[in-house]
Amino acid sequence: MKIAMVGAGYVGLVSGACFADFGHDVVCIDTDPSKIERLNAGEMPIYEPGLDELVQRNVRANRLSFTTGLAEGISGAGAIFIAVGTPSRRGDGHADLSFVHAAAAEIGKNLDHPAVIVTKSTVPVGTGDEVERILRESGTDVHFAVASNPEFLREGAAIGDFKRPDRIVIGTDDEWARGVMREVYRPLFLNRSPIVFSSRRSAEIIKYAANAFLATKITFINEIADLCEKVGGDVQDVARGIGLDNRIGPKFLHPGPGFGGSCFPKDTLALLKTAEDNDAPLRIVESVAKVNESRKRAMGRKVIDVLGEAPRGKRVALLGLTFKPNTDDMRDAPSIAIAQALIDAGVEVTAYDPEGMELARPLMPEVAMLPNAYEAIEGADAIVIVTEWDAFRALDLGRVRELVRAPVLVDLRNIYEPEELRGAGFTYISVGRP
Ligand code: UDX
Repeated sequence: MKIAMVGAGYVGLVSGACFADFGHDVVCIDTDPSKIERLNAGEMPIYEPGLDELVQRNVRANRLSFTTGLAEGISGAGAIFIAVGTPSRRGDGHADLSFVHAAAAEIGKNLDHPAVIVTKSTVPVGTGDEVERILRESGTDVHFAVASNPEFLREGAAIGDFKRPDRIVIGTDDEWARGVMREVYRPLFLNRSPIVFSSRRSAEIIKYAANAFLATKITFINEIADLCEKVGGDVQDVARGIGLDNRIGPKFLHPGPGFGGSCFPKDTLALLKTAEDNDAPLRIVESVAKVNESRKRAMGRKVIDVLGEAPRGKRVALLGLTFKPNTDDMRDAPSIAIAQALIDAGVEVTAYDPEGMELARPLMPEVAMLPNAYEAIEGADAIVIVTEWDAFRALDLGRVRELVRAPVLVDLRNIYEPEELRGAGFTYISVGRP
């Protein structure tokens, strides 16, 4: 089947390349000519493990192409996905739907054959109805249906998540559209990936409810970690002890500096706006958003406390800046608030991140970015592991001790064993452990 993907950002590009790899004929369309030019030259606009190879392989096989021309791109496509951005609207936290609406209008103007229009962008409940209205009003007289098909990709693991999903959610009551979507996902059907068919509105809610629930799980364990610190427990043992209960499950119980990224912070806020507008307050999610926001800066204070009476003029090295490993994404990364708290306290901050420094630089201009972990920690009064990149899991502790001014390690991701670090002569502080 021919598939058109409107929006060649993170979701559009990964989904488009994976659909092509399944054997579909995919065209990715984007209004940004420089992005399309780069993609046509084989350059990836984002860092995602395995993506460049996947794209190149499918381009070579003539199953994947890139264009700025929407009319040409959607021509003959049985499924047209809308995968444009839905950033937080400035000022109020509502999802900004202007790109989705513009894409729908443009599709409506150019649609000359029956097709299913599928929203893959994360959009508030009711957006499918609005997309349908825009398409109708654009004057197209061909048969079409609008379905919702949210994505659950994690950055850094997006290709694996796409090809081996926990489930696929397809929201439409239209039988013909369900058939088209079955065809789109046929390879995953054959793999017995569970497919959930629901109404369009339910599918739109599933996406936000999933993200809000996961954000809640993380925030819950973060608060339990704080309690463990106060009363002398070990949150790792607590997480294991509760996670082995099948009803709870072990995932997303890793305490840390708070969640960041392109989804959880923005989607929890957007969900809260929808809840408020519909007079159905989500008090748990409200608390999650608040607690997480204050946690990021609190982590800065945790580091400052370790520096003793006079933090001013001391030096702290941040290892890892991105919101999580295996991405260059800095959106809502806890490192931003941590660096700012340190700088506000007069601390000198150095940093190293394997992929994120280019995007981090403008967000924290006072921080000195260094070319590797060891140069970053030279002369430091404390090292802080902010992001759990594999490269930081086995630092040469002897070498580290020689380079730093004081052997103090604040491990905000609990990637080291306390005994090992203390045995190596470090003052070791982690999250929720004695
Ligand atoms: C998330 C969802 O997992 C995905 O399904 C959705 O489509 C997009 O949002 P992503 O933002 O890429 O994906 O990253 P994820 O791995 O979920 O981590 C999000 C944040 O939570 C990171 O800052 C991470 O460090 C933090 N986190 C995650 C924890 O602090 N503890 C955990 O146990 C898990």
